[in-house]
Amino acid sequence: MQPKSESKAAGAKLKIKPLVRFAEFEECVVIQKEVWRHDDLDTTPVHQFCIAVKTGSILLGAFLEGKMVGFVYSFPSVFRGRLCHHSHLLAVRPEYQGLGVGKKLKWAQRSEALKRGLDLITWTVDPLQAKNANLNIHTLGAITRTYWDNFYGYTPALTLGLNIPTDRFLMEWMIRSERVELRAKGKPKRGQAVESLPKAVEGQLNEAGLLEPQRVKLNLTAGRVLVELLRDIRVYSQQAAIISRWQTAVRKALKHYFRQGYGVSDFIYGERCFYVLERIDRLKDLKPKKLFASKKYF
Ligand SMILES: CC(C)(COP(=O)(O)OP(=O)(O)OC[C@H]1O[C@@H](n2cnc3c(N)ncnc32)[C@H](O)[C@@H]1OP(=O)(O)O)[C@@H](O)C(=O)NCCC(=O)NCCS
Repeated sequence: MQPKSESKAAGAKLKIKPLVRFAEFEECVVIQKEVWRHDDLDTTPVHQFCIAVKTGSILLGAFLEGKMVGFVYSFPSVFRGRLCHHSHLLAVRPEYQGLGVGKKLKWAQRSEALKRGLDLITWTVDPLQAKNANLNIHTLGAITRTYWDNFYGYTPALTLGLNIPTDRFLMEWMIRSERVELRAKGKPKRGQAVESLPKAVEGQLNEAGLLEPQRVKLNLTAGRVLVELLRDIRVYSQQAAIISRWQTAVRKALKHYFRQGYGVSDFIYGERCFYVLERIDRLKDLKPKKLFASKKYF
């Protein structure tokens, strides 16, 4: 990540505003191409943004000295019978990543959703991406208890490698919850003791010095269970077999523990990275801070 001073300077000058002009929608297309290098078919087009902003979507741009450096896009959706927003795109130009832009965009998206009376924003994310897990779960306070196998099919732009399924979490960001409210205020998060917690998935270095997942443990019953993740999947981009073994192990463990009532409640990002699983019904801080959400949701 960038030095904190640089990050603070960028943060001070950063302006977040709703995107309403055709030229701004065109810029969203350019940013997608820079960030994901997708073909045209895999890129959300200008005409989608034109109608989206007229029909209840939230489309916000981040500007540094007049240049759009990132954007976030969500549309109205229904989850478990209640109206919410589904966030489909969050992208920051590569040279501006790590400066706090992505975080600011998400907090601005939350503020806008709160103004509209919503209490939930969902999105999908690849469970093997540690940096995104750190952003979504640890920094923003989203949780997940939903794992979808090969959700987008073998769309080449979305896979981690040839013939690797596009597994996805559905993230739930309960934007009025105490957990999210505290993170929005920048309150420090609780530390997690990695050594003392049982691990359903744990890596071990192989002879080549690469981290390989060991046998998955499905008999754990502790209040907190860890699932290890590669710190940076890009380092393994030429190792499709290892990526595949990690995906198989992480999928098996997460789906099993989700069925037992666990959800992912935190993420530990360090030399070694871990999802923290806890029983969802014991997470008291998912309750809305102010009386707002209907009881049905929980
Ligand atoms: C993911 C993305 C939007 C994050 O935006 P960003 O501006 O780079 O991120 P920020 O500087 O705001 O950092 C926000 C959080 O992300 C995580 N993060 C960012 N860079 C990180 C890194 N190098 N290592 C680990 N975590 C990192 C941290 O949790 C950080 O919060 P913290 O500063 O409180 O620790 C951006 O990197 C991006 O466009 N990536 C490609 C597109 C993508 O993956 N989009 C989907 C996101 S779910």
